[in-house]
Amino acid sequence: MSVELNSTLSLTNTVTLKNRFYKSAMSEQLADDDHNPTESLFKLYETWAEGGSAICVTGNLMIDRTAIAEPKNCVLDEQSDLDKYRQWARQGTKNNTQLWVQLNHPGKQVPSFISSEPVAPSAIPFEGDLGKGFKAPRAMTEFDILKTIQAFATSARLAKECGFNGVQIHSAHGYLVNQFLSPRHNQRDDQWGGNPENRRRFVLEVYKAVRAEVGDDYPVGIKLNSADFLKDGFSEEDSMAVVKVLTDAGINLIEVSGGTYEAAAMMGVGIKEGTKKREAYFLEYAEKVRQVSGTTLAVTGGFRSSKAMSSALSEGATDLIGIARPMTVEPSLPLKAMNDSNYKIEVNIRSTGSAILDQIGMLDLNWYEAQLARLGKGKLPNENLSGWSVLFHTVASIGRFAFKKRRA
Ligand SMILES: Cc1cc2nc3c(=O)[nH]c(=O)nc-3n(C[C@H](O)[C@H](O)[C@H](O)COP(=O)(O)O)c2cc1C
Repeated sequence: MSVELNSTLSLTNTVTLKNRFYKSAMSEQLADDDHNPTESLFKLYETWAEGGSAICVTGNLMIDRTAIAEPKNCVLDEQSDLDKYRQWARQGTKNNTQLWVQLNHPGKQVPSFISSEPVAPSAIPFEGDLGKGFKAPRAMTEFDILKTIQAFATSARLAKECGFNGVQIHSAHGYLVNQFLSPRHNQRDDQWGGNPENRRRFVLEVYKAVRAEVGDDYPVGIKLNSADFLKDGFSEEDSMAVVKVLTDAGINLIEVSGGTYEAAAMMGVGIKEGTKKREAYFLEYAEKVRQVSGTTLAVTGGFRSSKAMSSALSEGATDLIGIARPMTVEPSLPLKAMNDSNYKIEVNIRSTGSAILDQIGMLDLNWYEAQLARLGKGKLPNENLSGWSVLFHTVASIGRFAFKKRRA
């Protein structure tokens, strides 16, 4: 059955999506010093709203200001300046766009210049090179766990109060919820670990607490790894079991991703050439999800052409097309792809010319952030932005930390 990119989709009894585009979360690094949203974020999301996506998900917002992942993350808690969040919601929901916030806690995936003692399910440090930029974590107590579950719920309630249209629990890419799910990172022997059911307890309790705060009609989604792609890590079988449990519990949307910053499958690292022929990295997994869950699905990672997007929809592998990096250089991608069945975008990052500088300046990530900052200032994206300009932008934004490891 042919499914058009511009066809509507009923998400809940009260929410109909205007098309099949889903702007996936990208950490913008545009908060102010108190971790509140800024004019740049308002402008950026207004631009994306004009670009035609049915849903735009914010970059990860922290639920606890004592546990932030990166220097310029937003935090949404009782101390936040809610008027600023209201303004963000007003501008980002123009053009009938659904603006959702992504809620996150980094667990131990916090650079050591931000936290000298992060928390995690177990006191297991990252291995190898990663261990150098990230301190060994402290194992969370029962009290920490319950407090954190409640913090997710509080942020969700505030998001709803401020006018956002939905929330997404970030359970992918190696952050806290993912750490609880992973047998490699969660070696607890209490009710929060030790077997798959116990490892799933945290995400389920977070979902239930969020649902209790926002009510039955408010959209709640999750970003879930198909697998972590790590030895002894969260497997496809584990992931499928989470899908079943959350489907039964009433989740409204599952966004499929995969990998962590230890094995970055979500960015296409290590994905087989055969898989890349369909562009998107996680379609095969999504097709398996279809066998066990009727929940609305978004698949993110790799989509670049309207042909591949249309095929994925028509084959029934996904309901929504998740897109991140291309939206930094073409914020109107949804409109363009809907209007041109031959549309295709390629994103090529310009190097500084020095592999070492590219690596320590984290060019791959910072290049996209620099484009987001341009959009936030009302400028056009610059596909030719050089590695050097990116380095200057990052130093101007976060000073000496530009050369410190920020992501695992
Ligand atoms: C600069 C940058 C920041 C990102 N931040 C987040 C984030 O906050 N939360 C998240 O779930 N994924 C984040 N991602 C991953 C994207 O959502 C997406 O999964 C990934 O880029 C693959 O999709 P794409 O091929 O369409 O870019 C980020 C990616 C980039 C490039």
